[in-house]
Amino acid sequence: MQLKLSDRIMKPDFQGEFTASILAAAASPDIISFAGGLPNPVSFPIPEMEAATKKVLEENGVTALQYSSTQGWPALRKWIAKRYETMGVYDVSADDIIVTNGSQQALAMIGAVMINPGDEVIVEDPTYLVALQSFHVFDPSVLTVTMNPDGIDCDELAEVVKNHPEAKFAYLIPNFQNPTGLSYTQEVHDRVVEIFKSSNVLLLEDNPYREIRFAGTATDSFGKELGEQCCMLGTFSKIITPGMRIGWICVRNKELKAKLLNYKSTADLHTNIFSQMVLAQYLADNDVDEHISKIKALYKAKSDFMVECLKKYLPEGCDLTPTEGGMFLWVTLPNGLSALQLYYKALEKGVAICPGDPFYEYKRDVSSFRVNYSNSTDEAIEKGVKILGEACKEMMEA
Ligand SMILES: Cc1ncc(COP(=O)(O)O)c(C=O)c1O
Repeated sequence: MQLKLSDRIMKPDFQGEFTASILAAAASPDIISFAGGLPNPVSFPIPEMEAATKKVLEENGVTALQYSSTQGWPALRKWIAKRYETMGVYDVSADDIIVTNGSQQALAMIGAVMINPGDEVIVEDPTYLVALQSFHVFDPSVLTVTMNPDGIDCDELAEVVKNHPEAKFAYLIPNFQNPTGLSYTQEVHDRVVEIFKSSNVLLLEDNPYREIRFAGTATDSFGKELGEQCCMLGTFSKIITPGMRIGWICVRNKELKAKLLNYKSTADLHTNIFSQMVLAQYLADNDVDEHISKIKALYKAKSDFMVECLKKYLPEGCDLTPTEGGMFLWVTLPNGLSALQLYYKALEKGVAICPGDPFYEYKRDVSSFRVNYSNSTDEAIEKGVKILGEACKEMMEA
């Protein structure tokens, strides 16, 4: 049969295949993988979930197994709305929350509802590659703004926002950004607020890693100052489980909310109601902050150990972006060496990293790569980084 595929899926900038190949390499049992972004199973509260599941089925089984409403389970939306108080935002209500199939679905929904072919969208450079791919499905023109060690480059951002007032939105990850692990300082946060206040551009804040801070102080959410001009995306993937696929979008603009709900109802009717109810029960019966503190302690130890190994085994001249939380470190090779080349070389030796290329909209053959520390044993970290160091040295000597 001759397939009749859409132009959209055939575009060379739809980099899904590359991502899939990295994930496949990362999943192979023979590979030490620093390529993915898998949470450590320490964050999976299995006995507590078992108890929550039993309770939901006993007390509310018919609702849990029936079709449900598109917006999501009220108790869960209420919990999420209340959680915004820890981010300085006190005027979020359960009615502002749409529960999504991971925050990934929220990105796809925003793309579908907001982007016409050729519309401008603003992203950090580099940015989360699967967000780029989700937006690309709708054929936007992508404007990029450099990421600096203290967050997005505000001079560049101010220029882009001023010169492109019709841009549909700016997609920003202010805490432990994927891929760089960088966070916005308070100063950068305040400037970003000023830039957006005097514009008509929507700020799409994605914050999956904010809760995993093991040093320093977090800035408040942009939603505090920007109100309905800021849509806030969140997820339970990094603090409880990615397997339940529960994320959300907090949208306080009523018209946008209605359009997103319309779109979601055609995409999947609603997010898995059984998972939502079990998660809400788990959250009601357990101390989630105590649970998160366990994740933070483990990730800090893993991050410290990986930094130690990278400093010990990578050749002189490699630059390492320090991080105070999240799941990733960002390494830059000296002398313009190609991280993509290192990716292939290291893979031959049994170690997977995530080369920087797919995180950039335009740059290719970049020198930076991302490593993940959350789900590797200390032995694997030491062995894998040592091999990475050998591969780097071979490239530098070639
Ligand atoms: C920045 C960012 N946004 C969104 C997601 C999607 O997360 P999920 O769909 O599991 O909520 C990820 C996953 O790694 C991410 O790093």
